[in-house]
Amino acid sequence: MKILITYFSNTGNTEKVAKSMKEGLTDYEVDLLPVEEVDPTVLSSYNIVFIGSGVYASRIDKSVLNLIKKAAPHLPPKLVYFCTHASLNMYQDAFNKVKTLIQEYDCKVIGEFDCVGENLGIPEETQLAMLEKLPDEQKEKAIKIREENKGRPNETDLSNAKNFALSLVKNL
Ligand SMILES: Cc1cc2nc3c(=O)[nH]c(=O)nc-3n(C[C@H](O)[C@H](O)[C@H](O)COP(=O)(O)O)c2cc1C
Repeated sequence: MKILITYFSNTGNTEKVAKSMKEGLTDYEVDLLPVEEVDPTVLSSYNIVFIGSGVYASRIDKSVLNLIKKAAPHLPPKLVYFCTHASLNMYQDAFNKVKTLIQEYDCKVIGEFDCVGENLGIPEETQLAMLEKLPDEQKEKAIKIREENKGRPNETDLSNAKNFALSLVKNL
């Protein structure tokens, strides 16, 4: 079984998750590469491709979609999607474009993993200024979420990512 774990990560959160997934799969042949280093022509040589991205303005990075577009129709039979996100409700549809794209090919999404990632890509003062503009009730909630996101993905998140990858592959 040949596995590729590939990801786009602007500030390192998704990369941490990708590395933890690889740690869970030590008994398998696994390549770990940022998406921009993946040759689209070799994608179909893997039995499973784990593909991940941070979520930016409710979307995954376009490099992830581009990789799939370039590789099609020669796609891996099994795809696993993972993402990190700061919001609790603005990330679920981020992978939809990829799902739509692969629909017509012999490639199935066999698992999805997400976890919270602290927003390190927008300066703190900009984030605080954005929060100030919210109505009081929303502001309070957003401040609380921002506090809770600090340091994530944390050890528990990374351990969850590791266990997710292992149990998914083991149970195939
Ligand atoms: C410009 C920008 C836009 C973002 N937009 C969203 C968003 O729409 N929804 C969300 O849940 N998180 C959003 N985030 C937070 C990131 O998804 C989160 O911090 C993620 O862990 C970043 O992953 P990375 O470190 O791998 O780049 C945004 C972050 C940045 C910098």
